[in-house]
Amino acid sequence: MCTDIEKTFMRRCFTLARYGLGEVKTNPLVGSVLVYKDQIIAEGFHERYGSFHAERNALSNIPDEYNAVLPQCTLYVSLEPCNHQGKTPPCTDIILEKGIKKVIIAQLDPNPIMSGKSVRLLKENGIEVKVGLCAEEARQLNKKFIINQTQKRPYIVLKYAESKYGYIGLKDKQVWLSNPQSKVLVHKWRSENMGILIGTNTAIVDNPQLTNRLYSGSSPKRIIIDRNQRIPKTHYVLSDQYESIIYTTDMDYHLPSTSKTIVEIKESDQTMQLTWIMQDLYNRGIANLLIEGGKELLTHLIKNDLWDECRIIKTNSTLNQGIKSPNIKGIRTRSARLGSDKIEYILSHNLKKILTE
Ligand SMILES: NC(=O)c1ccc[n+]([C@@H]2O[C@H](COP(=O)([O-])OP(=O)(O)OC[C@H]3O[C@@H](n4cnc5c(N)ncnc54)[C@H](OP(=O)(O)O)[C@@H]3O)[C@@H](O)[C@H]2O)c1
Repeated sequence: MCTDIEKTFMRRCFTLARYGLGEVKTNPLVGSVLVYKDQIIAEGFHERYGSFHAERNALSNIPDEYNAVLPQCTLYVSLEPCNHQGKTPPCTDIILEKGIKKVIIAQLDPNPIMSGKSVRLLKENGIEVKVGLCAEEARQLNKKFIINQTQKRPYIVLKYAESKYGYIGLKDKQVWLSNPQSKVLVHKWRSENMGILIGTNTAIVDNPQLTNRLYSGSSPKRIIIDRNQRIPKTHYVLSDQYESIIYTTDMDYHLPSTSKTIVEIKESDQTMQLTWIMQDLYNRGIANLLIEGGKELLTHLIKNDLWDECRIIKTNSTLNQGIKSPNIKGIRTRSARLGSDKIEYILSHNLKKILTE
């Protein structure tokens, strides 16, 4: 049983954790507070990738006057502490060193190899450990990290715009469906993702730059699939000065620019190629990925359960022929009006299960 005050302290951990948004990269968002007699006496969060973890920061911030009462304090932390030497020392060490006797954790480490190990170690050392306080909120906070750790692929967000009649475009001709406000929103989404991927035909027909030009923050790394060298070499993604990763099966692929990385697709089976590309992107440090169509690519991802969220921009365009929207089945979580457009947010069944289990 958890008390309301315990929940308040854990929610403070979540608030602190969010200060790391955009900074922690492939690491989780984590916050921690140390409590003495129902008062927070120290706080910390994981500030940026490679820096100290939340609980180490909290335990390094304790005012001297509390040193004598540490065994009577409770440490709250939104994710199971680590017990291995990585870029920083094990957090279980500092918990033991400080003589903390009670630890409350929202969620176990989602990495199946690590999960529960630190809890066991702390208990073996006589520490009272409670796990699962506000667990659903903790999973929501770190849903991207959970997907990374359990599926070894980026967290995948699909996005497309459709006309009133459910069409996304015309074959071989670029059409613009959404309004200017939605365009800004899409650039915001670009700024929030580490990678952006489009299908080969989309690259050919639309010749997009795939950068973030309308919102603050950085641009994602551009990722293109061009198995058979069909994209004109003069198109932005292959010719400008920005980075692109190009996946191909054609070993004669050549581009003069040093800002482009050419990767040979290792998996020969067509269906498995996307799974292989996703794992390769994850191994390259791309922890989250925005996929901006087209239909063929989106359909393959949907069929292979390679998506977590879908954002559909429902527009007022009267396009009533051409390429139909992909058929996507998930859980509609919310919708929002943006001028003449409506944005619909859909969660995959797979992600919903992870968040609520
Ligand atoms: N409204 C919107 O939001 C939106 C967004 C994006 C695009 N569009 C429109 O959609 C149209 C393009 O869509 P599309 O469906 O024709 O093509 P697409 O999905 O952009 O590209 C499909 C091509 O990608 C390559 N590919 C490589 N690996 C693949 C895989 N595992 N699964 C599927 N394809 C793979 C294939 O070419 P290879 O055989 O050469 O490998 C395939 O023909 C354009 O007209 C564009 O304007 C609209």
